[in-house]
Amino acid sequence: MTKYLVTGAAGFLGYHLADTLSREATSEVLCVDNFVRGECDQLYDELCRRHNVTRLDVDLCDRTAVFSLPDDCEIIFHLAALNGTQNFYERPLDVLRCSTLPTFWLLERFGSSSALRRFLYAGTSESYASTVTRFGWEIPTGEDVPLSIDDISNPRWSYAASKMHGEVLTAQAARHYGKDFTIIRYHNAYGPRMGDRHVVPDFLMRAKRGELALYGYEDTRSFLYVSDSVAATIALAKADNAAGQVVNVGSDEEISILRLAELMLDICGMKGDIALHPSPKGSVRRRVPSITKLRSLTGFSPKVSLREGLKRTIDYYL
Ligand SMILES: NC(=O)c1ccc[n+]([C@@H]2O[C@H](COP(=O)([O-])OP(=O)(O)OC[C@H]3O[C@@H](n4cnc5c(N)ncnc54)[C@H](O)[C@@H]3O)[C@@H](O)[C@H]2O)c1
Repeated sequence: MTKYLVTGAAGFLGYHLADTLSREATSEVLCVDNFVRGECDQLYDELCRRHNVTRLDVDLCDRTAVFSLPDDCEIIFHLAALNGTQNFYERPLDVLRCSTLPTFWLLERFGSSSALRRFLYAGTSESYASTVTRFGWEIPTGEDVPLSIDDISNPRWSYAASKMHGEVLTAQAARHYGKDFTIIRYHNAYGPRMGDRHVVPDFLMRAKRGELALYGYEDTRSFLYVSDSVAATIALAKADNAAGQVVNVGSDEEISILRLAELMLDICGMKGDIALHPSPKGSVRRRVPSITKLRSLTGFSPKVSLREGLKRTIDYYL
């Protein structure tokens, strides 16, 4: 048996990761969340009722609660954070709290545990977005890009700053305690149950109300379907050569937000003029990761095309 701890398990990536792990014949999965963002919906309830899954409703900002977690976790996927662009602008202090304190307490709690074999930290492309924008760093962007914050007075960077802090903390605590770690820099995962604050569900829900409005239409991104994001995550957790590494997880197929919206309308069989709005202040113009390192460490290649992934996502939301 392998005992996994997944933090942020009621959230988007955490739920799909815990769901996939729980289907392994020899796994035991501890799901931790406090529902600050993720939902205790029917799907999460069903997941937590499986024989090899345990639900722990814990606020990871609470050090005492973190120290009450079981000691014998072997692989920790630390995904809990306050994600979502709207949250960065509206709740920067909560973003900073939920994306820093849990990492501190978890590493302190499990660093000296003899059971722990790997600590995987969910980093983000936001942590280098300012470097790309301000210094014209290369795209697709590799893991060696310097991390930076463009403007501490813009609340948008509350998230990037706290996730950058998490990367440094993970690397240094792992060294201090002599533990293996992997930092996974996620880039725009998408799919069912991703909340309603990302570009895909936001556009879909507006379109459903008959409002074809799009924000940041000129920006470009690349999107990786959630099952591929989860497969890459698990492959990295199992790859010995991924220990001590920072690895991008995403797609290297760049697409404009306008083209993405047109593709969604096409899949839905909808027509109409889209009202185009600029992106909010601080938004990143282009973002595409290099996934060469992910490929060479794990042999990973995405299985779900953008069209197919959007179709599955649309089926879920509409
Ligand atoms: N989804 C992406 O494309 C993407 C991109 C870059 C980075 N990431 C990172 O991956 C991780 C997962 O992202 P997601 O999209 O699934 O986010 P999400 O918001 O859906 O899930 C995060 C979960 O963490 C939980 N959480 C937050 N603070 C907590 C606390 N103090 N105690 C317990 N639980 C807490 C939330 O309730 C939520 O369910 C995050 O760390 C995020 O920064 C995701």
